[in-house]
Amino acid sequence: MANIFPKSANFLPIKIGLGLACIGVFVVAGAWYYFTPKYTRVGYQPQQPVAYSHALHVGQLGMDCRYCHSFVDQAAHANIPNSQTCNNCHKQGGVQWDNPKLAVLRESIEKNVPIRWKQIHQTPDYVYFNHSAHVNRGVGCVSCHGQINEMEVVYEAKPLSMGWCLECHRAPEKNLRPLDKVYDLNWIAASAGKNQDKMGSALVAEWNVRPPTNCSGCHR
Ligand code: HEC
Ligand code: HEC
Ligand code: HEC
Ligand code: HEC
Ligand code: HEC
Repeated sequence: MANIFPKSANFLPIKIGLGLACIGVFVVAGAWYYFTPKYTRVGYQPQQPVAYSHALHVGQLGMDCRYCHSFVDQAAHANIPNSQTCNNCHKQGGVQWDNPKLAVLRESIEKNVPIRWKQIHQTPDYVYFNHSAHVNRGVGCVSCHGQINEMEVVYEAKPLSMGWCLECHRAPEKNLRPLDKVYDLNWIAASAGKNQDKMGSALVAEWNVRPPTNCSGCHR
């Protein structure tokens, strides 16, 4: 009787088996890759080259965010300060200039090379985001970054996902605050004896706030 299958067909079960095994490996590898904090992102906390602490500089010393992130209310991107900004206190001011924790900062200033801070928050290229549009409309840093003023090392506190953006865009009154409280991370409406929803709704009306919920608002 003639063999109706070509000879190579004998290998077919092996190939299918191998194929499935490979897919298995990719699924596991993929899950590992995507579910470690960098990809779900909440909690992402890379080690930074200098042990700079927001808890110390903001929480204890009371510095304003704009001393260092000076473009946050003027541009789409907030800037990370250059070493010259740290220099104001640490070299010129002589604050802890010999502290071993400042070794990388000293080298950066003496050799004039930037510190390579690791970026933490990042939206994909196809998303349009603008800081100034938010902070000048009463959205506080704390709504999107959490209690930075208490962080020894910054981590991502919020998902920055599309669903998360839209949740606020659909109900901005839950998050709006007076403009002079945008940089005050401990402020909440209740502490000023106010009801957030009532105060927020009044600000929405006063400023005519209408955050985009259409696709082209954020994907331009
Ligand atoms: C003395 C300077 C200084 C001040 C003041 C300061 N920051 Fe920072 N900030 C830095 C430096 C340096 C980094 C980068 C290293 C790091 O992540 O800790 C940074 C990082 C950040 C990041 C993460 C950036 C990223 O890569 O995604 C956020 C968010 C942030 N700061 C928010 C704030 C807020 C909110 C305030 C005010 C409450 C503030 N900062 C005040 C210096 C400062
Ligand atoms: C307005 C002044 C000021 C500026 C600007 C400033 N610092 Fe400081 N920093 C201080 C003071 C004051 C201390 C010491 C607090 C203390 O006595 O414990 C300090 C302490 C530190 C320490 C040591 C912390 C420890 O645990 O020993 C590091 C590291 C540091 N700063 C990094 C930076 C970096 C990086 C920048 C720039 C992004 C910066 N600082 C900008 C005032 C400043
Ligand atoms: C409406 C939400 C929102 C608010 C309010 C907000 N941020 Fe951000 N922040 C983001 C997002 C989203 C990113 C990532 C930006 C990107 O990928 O372009 C980011 C990134 C940053 C970065 C890294 C540099 C950059 O621009 O990519 C710094 C620093 C920062 N924010 C500081 C601040 C400070 C300081 C405030 C308050 C004055 C603030 N942010 C308020 C959402 C916000
Ligand atoms: C906590 C509330 C809140 C969150 C979270 C938030 N937004 Fe907004 N967004 C606003 C408000 C308020 C405005 C101002 C609307 C106005 O001025 O009418 C705004 C305005 C905008 C605008 C229009 C500004 C312009 O320049 O045209 C864009 C685009 C935008 N947001 C994108 C985003 C993206 C992307 C995210 C998520 C990464 C995000 N927003 C998260 C509250 C928020
Ligand atoms: C308020 C801002 C905002 C609006 C409005 C918005 N998006 Fe998005 N979109 C985002 C952000 C932020 C991401 C990135 C999500 C991430 O990185 O997790 C995203 C991601 C996406 C993705 C990539 C797949 C994914 O889920 O990560 C698609 C597709 C998309 N959006 C389609 C749309 C469509 C279609 C609309 C209109 C119905 C829309 N978006 C409206 C902010 C927005």
